Amino acid sequence: MAPLRLLCSWPCLCASLCGSWGTRSKGGVCYFSTSTCRHTKFHKDPVEAVKDIPDGAKILVGSFGLCGIPENLIGALLKTRVKGLTAVSNNAGVDNFGLGRLLRSKQIKHMISSYVGENAEFERQYLSGELEVEPTPQGTLAERIRAGGAGVPAFYTSTGYGMLVQEGGAPIKYKDFGIAIASKPREVREFNGQHFILEEAITGDFSLVKAWKADSAGNIIFRKSARNFNLPMCKAAGTTVVEVGEIVDVGSFAPEDIHIPKLYVHCLIKGEKYEKRIERLSTWKQEDVKAKSGKPGDNVRESIIKQAALEFEDGMYANLGIGIPLLASNFISPNMTIHLQSENGILGLGPYPFENEVDADLINAGKETVTVLPGASYFSSDESFAMIRGGHVNLTMLGAMQVSKYGDLANWMIPGKMVKGMGGAMDLVSSAKTKVVVTMEHSAKGNTHKIMEKCTLPLTGKQCVNRIITEKAVFDVDSKKGLTLIELWEGLTVDDIKKSTGYDFAVSPKLMPMQQITI
Ligand SMILES: *[C@@H]1O[C@H](CO)[C@@H](O)[C@H](O)[C@H]1NC(C)=O
Ligand SMILES: *[C@@H]1O[C@H](CO)[C@@H](O)[C@H](O)[C@H]1NC(C)=O
Repeated sequence: MAPLRLLCSWPCLCASLCGSWGTRSKGGVCYFSTSTCRHTKFHKDPVEAVKDIPDGAKILVGSFGLCGIPENLIGALLKTRVKGLTAVSNNAGVDNFGLGRLLRSKQIKHMISSYVGENAEFERQYLSGELEVEPTPQGTLAERIRAGGAGVPAFYTSTGYGMLVQEGGAPIKYKDFGIAIASKPREVREFNGQHFILEEAITGDFSLVKAWKADSAGNIIFRKSARNFNLPMCKAAGTTVVEVGEIVDVGSFAPEDIHIPKLYVHCLIKGEKYEKRIERLSTWKQEDVKAKSGKPGDNVRESIIKQAALEFEDGMYANLGIGIPLLASNFISPNMTIHLQSENGILGLGPYPFENEVDADLINAGKETVTVLPGASYFSSDESFAMIRGGHVNLTMLGAMQVSKYGDLANWMIPGKMVKGMGGAMDLVSSAKTKVVVTMEHSAKGNTHKIMEKCTLPLTGKQCVNRIITEKAVFDVDSKKGLTLIELWEGLTVDDIKKSTGYDFAVSPKLMPMQQITI
């Protein structure tokens, strides 16, 4: 956009003068839009749709994992060869798909993401100082984008309080194995006795979005869990470029079913072809349901899974981490209904699909293919984390590297190792209304303690854990009184547990043997 300064200080006069020239006014300046995409414009060629993206632009790119990637628009940027981009995206695809392609061609200078994913080139560029990365909790990222679109410059969230996110100093850019640019500390404020940190909105110059269908007026709808970050990103950029699988007549979907009204959509193309890759193909097999035994470690895993399954109560809404927590859902009694939430935008997760049901647009937060049960719903990432942060989910169950006596949790970062990012874990444990259950092996490799007085690893949450389940014991955790041993694996004594736990604990007068669900 080329600005033209006007000699007037009356905003309304400016607006009408600028308007009569077909430009927008801002602070006495008329902006001529040179973009070909101002009002919903339909393009055939994806290169035409992105050709106005200049070097150094900030682009918001929709998707979660490999689900809902604007494949054709990313392909077009490879052709325009635009450089020095700042890319805001939950993750960066894989080496040769999604944003990974633009990383490989070195067109991205700066990334704001919650998770690096399995992307070796991303890791290499970050550690060598070629790429700047701002790791951001997933829910905070979604809300920063939502706020950007809604004209809210900043907001307070409890996610990240008392952690590296708030304290600052996390590496954004490395140089010669030292930190060249570090993250800034966040302002803290107390509301109703709880601490919150100030997070600023994110807006972009351009959004690149993948939707399912558009009507010929420019209204769009998304399919299944491919809504994710695509929806909030539609609203947060100066120019929103959307690619769809299909353009249909107005009226093909009802006005009440429209996810994004046309005013947010500046430019539309119908993608020529879609690869729609799947990151983790998971299908339903009988052996997943029965916990396996035989391999060393399986008994440990199985006893944690069967113990964890006892946490479910009829009617509960639960978010389960990948691995042991999700496997525990195989042991939910058939006379019980548990609604499983997945932070990429699903309520009502079902089991893994049969081979013929696999759908790239339907994955869980672990990027695995899944199904949904009758009564399920799909929503965007900002909505999903509003649900989580707002305390509407009854139970969060997840793994941990360390838990402290007062329930501090560390599960996202080992200093000196590649940081994959915190994903959604910090948001998942941020509400005091949600019960947080940690499932983990009692000790780490080499018998080092995982339950300890104070975590030595960077925290995911402060005083947030309510219960710890290991293969040896179950503890209740009180954020003021500390740990209480409530259940014990048969054959072990309280002394055995004391030896393998890095901190002293109270013993419940009602101490029981571990219950273990029976099937
Ligand atoms: C789940 O949380 C809601 C409040 O958000 C509460 O009304 C409900 O009783 C809880 N259900 C269970 C099973 O804990
Ligand atoms: C489900 O069935 C088991 C016995 O099969 C029973 O012990 C339990 O109380 C039942 N739970 C509910 C919620 O009805």
